[in-house]
Amino acid sequence: MTVKTIKTTPYPDQKPGTSGLRKRVAVYQQPNYVENYIQAIFDSLEGFEGKTLVIGGDGRYYNDVAIQKAIRIAAANGFGKVLVGQGGLLSTPAASNIIRHYEAFGGLVLSASHNPGGPQGDFGIKYNVSNGGPAPEKITDAVFARTKVIDSYKTVDTPDIDLGTIGTQSVEGMTVEVIDPVKDYAALMQSLFDFDAIRGLFASGFRMTYDAMHAVTGPYATAILEDMLGAPAGTVVNGTPSPSFGDGHPDPNLVYCKDMFDLLMTADGPDFGAASDGDGDRNLIIGKNRFVTPSDSLALLAANAHLAPGYSKGIAGIARSMPTSAAADRVAEKLGIEMHETPTGWKFFGNLLDAGRVTICGEESAGTGSDHVREKDGLWAVLLWLNILAVRKQGVDEIVQEHWRSYGRNYYTRHDYEEVDAATANQLMDDLRVKLPEMAGTAIGGKRVAYADDFTYHDPVDGSISAKQGVRIGFEDGSRIVLRLSGTGTVGATLRVYLERYEPADGRHDLDTQEALKPLIEIAEELAKIQSRTGRSGPSVIT
Ligand code: G6P
Ligand code: ZN
Repeated sequence: MTVKTIKTTPYPDQKPGTSGLRKRVAVYQQPNYVENYIQAIFDSLEGFEGKTLVIGGDGRYYNDVAIQKAIRIAAANGFGKVLVGQGGLLSTPAASNIIRHYEAFGGLVLSASHNPGGPQGDFGIKYNVSNGGPAPEKITDAVFARTKVIDSYKTVDTPDIDLGTIGTQSVEGMTVEVIDPVKDYAALMQSLFDFDAIRGLFASGFRMTYDAMHAVTGPYATAILEDMLGAPAGTVVNGTPSPSFGDGHPDPNLVYCKDMFDLLMTADGPDFGAASDGDGDRNLIIGKNRFVTPSDSLALLAANAHLAPGYSKGIAGIARSMPTSAAADRVAEKLGIEMHETPTGWKFFGNLLDAGRVTICGEESAGTGSDHVREKDGLWAVLLWLNILAVRKQGVDEIVQEHWRSYGRNYYTRHDYEEVDAATANQLMDDLRVKLPEMAGTAIGGKRVAYADDFTYHDPVDGSISAKQGVRIGFEDGSRIVLRLSGTGTVGATLRVYLERYEPADGRHDLDTQEALKPLIEIAEELAKIQSRTGRSGPSVIT
């Protein structure tokens, strides 16, 4: 094997965010930008010689270029084998499963998740460790430090590797195995869920629509829902992955899936609607006449998980990110199991899952998952919902309302101010932080503040500490305001304001969410002066 060492100069901006390094495609297209980052990852790892690396992506624009570079750099650095999905495709949860199933050293996930694709869109690279989950901060910090001083990378000189045909080939002494991206994942789902019961549900006339948003879950959803579970052909829409996601925005929320939402609100529409994002780890769940918020979905899935064979023994515990509503906490309390509050980002669940302390995790940002992999998993959430619907023989709306009648309802919303000037956003947060120590005990907008802090996470498994994870202001009536800056944006800063209030089991569960949270929305504005500082008259997105 002839390894070439190529001189390079560092880029100052290769700091991994909440979920890997996400940048505009044009940024990634700069000379050696991909090479620097991948070499910096390998330089921050030890002991991978001769071991297996998994590589796959969501099929977005530039996936094909970056994947060839990645394979060459892996060969030059001494990996023994690369496992890659056919056509360069692997959904994020499937990549996590492949890493675990084949006991690989780690994996590279090429994705910018739900961000738009195409030449004007975003690209991303994320490194996952041997448990199948995103690298912890210890590694991502080391990678960033390395990117700042890197002066060379290693590669090999080969023609492009054929990723279209399943099978094994040798690239400069390293084995490259192209695998079916769907097979192992489908088998894993079959081991967790009662496929016979779900098949029976479809056979009885239950109708669903699943929007793959022209992204990576198309082949997975078609194979599992239509081929294995007998859902009628056409259940999966936008099922062919395209590099530009059909020029759409593959984020499964009520803005980009409005048509589906409208369809589910009609009398003769389907019974159930679902969607996943660009790389297949997020989910949207809509029942007939009922959108299920991600925070509620986490609570409902945790409360009903035992109805699926994979969780029939019950769950060990639940974890949620700090800004996610506390609906799941009430389920944990009732079940008498552990409940954990972590910073935003799936990587923080890894230790708890590995230690067996939690089984189900979720985030307000449309992510839910379990200990079956170490990523959130869109289709998993859809299948668990289907399993629950099949066993309970009730509709989504009925199940949600029953849940609120026994646990109460956490009214919850998130207001995003996107592409705000970064300096303005940072100043706003800094000014708020200064005020926090004096806030407890005072009254704002008629509500008394119980606590006000900037969330610090103490990982109970490895003792690591993550500070400055978001400003939280809790009130004596149990309601809460959280403000933080997004770690996944690629332009300017995105300010997220999370608002929540609890309505007891015997209270009113049919209020409009924005109305129910109006007093809190006003307090948030009073405290942070968001509109005057950002010059915006309101949030860019409300979820
Ligand atoms: C990605 C991560 C999630 C995170 C979400 C929002 O999807 O995988 O763990 O919750 O981004 O992060 P942000 O920092 O933009 O709020
Ligand atoms: Zn995603």
